[in-house]
Amino acid sequence: MKTWRAHHWFDIASAIPLVAILSFSLFVVWHFLTEPSYSLGFSIFRTDASSSLLGSADQPLKIDQVTSAFQEDKCCRCALDEEKREKSRRVSPLLHGFSDTELLKRAIEMETATSIRYFAKLDCIHSDIAETKNRKNAGSRVPCPDSCGRESTTARVKIAFIFMITTSLPFEALWNKYFQGKGGRYNIYVHADPFNATLFADRSSVFFGRLIPSAKADRGSPSLVMASQRLLANAMLDDPLNQYFALLSGSCIPIRSFDYGYQKITSSKKSFLEMIIFEPVMEERYRGREGGAVTMLPEIPFDKFRKGAHWFVFIRRHALMMLKDQYENKYWAKFDRPCIVHFCGTDEHYYHTLFNILEPEGVTGKTVTHVVWPSWPTEHPIMYQSWDIKKELIEDMRNKDDGHYLFARKFHEDTAESLLALADLILQ
Ligand SMILES: *[C@@H]1O[C@H](CO)[C@@H](O)[C@H](O)[C@H]1NC(C)=O
Repeated sequence: MKTWRAHHWFDIASAIPLVAILSFSLFVVWHFLTEPSYSLGFSIFRTDASSSLLGSADQPLKIDQVTSAFQEDKCCRCALDEEKREKSRRVSPLLHGFSDTELLKRAIEMETATSIRYFAKLDCIHSDIAETKNRKNAGSRVPCPDSCGRESTTARVKIAFIFMITTSLPFEALWNKYFQGKGGRYNIYVHADPFNATLFADRSSVFFGRLIPSAKADRGSPSLVMASQRLLANAMLDDPLNQYFALLSGSCIPIRSFDYGYQKITSSKKSFLEMIIFEPVMEERYRGREGGAVTMLPEIPFDKFRKGAHWFVFIRRHALMMLKDQYENKYWAKFDRPCIVHFCGTDEHYYHTLFNILEPEGVTGKTVTHVVWPSWPTEHPIMYQSWDIKKELIEDMRNKDDGHYLFARKFHEDTAESLLALADLILQ
């Protein structure tokens, strides 16, 4: 069709079906923008777009390949209106007054609109290329003005580092070193409970202005999962280049350089999520919510129930899958119930069980955040104190499993200074 269009560009008779096709496309775009649909057909559409949007460290994406609401492509008139709409939908700056439901809805809607725009834009670009070729052959000037934003600008995919913290971020100085000079390849978002707007007052810190609206997040409860969903939704809305989402806590530290982690994460097409099939606590946790085991059925039989650390790295498509589950309240409804046993650990089961059901082959089964559990039964992993911080400790973690781990926990806030003294080793 493109060749046909190019050869008959100035032919008025041929333009009539073209106008009809364009009007129809515009109508389709308008329809989806005004009435977002989460139908099955649409999910398939989205999946295709998402996989072609996945770039890697070796192959930076052209900015045209990833939709950016901040760039107006004047060559593509048919994409312009849509772009304006998307901009007005975007939640930025980070502090807004949306409820969780509104936030999830917006993130899902924008993702949907973005995939449509991606195809509309590709279409425009192709027709422009055909047109340009045609005119070049005819000896006339290339029609695109320089200012149209179609220069060979390249953009790298970004990792959204999403931090869930309580009263402070004790390793802020170490993280600042970690991110130094790495601009354009990451974004930071922080959820703080209790919320404290003056937490990151230092303008020179990479954390300045990166707090998102936060709410109560209690250990092991559904509200903790809600906090990570809130981080995911905000990060998705904020920047379409955020293609990976790494969840960290205030007691996490990096044990590898940014470049090492960036390479490992962005070359993966899978999410890093730990998958434990069985542990003695699982039966209790499976039946531990109000209503008992029967409320899990039929969607979640016991043999589908999984466990793992909360600390994930998700690809964008998986982050969207979770936001949708929460918005539609399907599997989430099973977990979002009061706990009637000693401890339910919702954050240790929800993601893991969901992915075990929806796309088990899409996750690595292993977290990139190193942790050590004591040999006695406990709900808390080992917390390193200042006297534990030695070169050898960090080296052991770095060498484990062929250098698999990028981050480590849990470190007491008193270790901040000793860790900073080891920054050269940690970030080498
Ligand atoms: C908020 O953060 C600031 C800066 O870290 C700290 O000095 C202050 O005590 C915090 N306020 C509360 C209520 O925790």
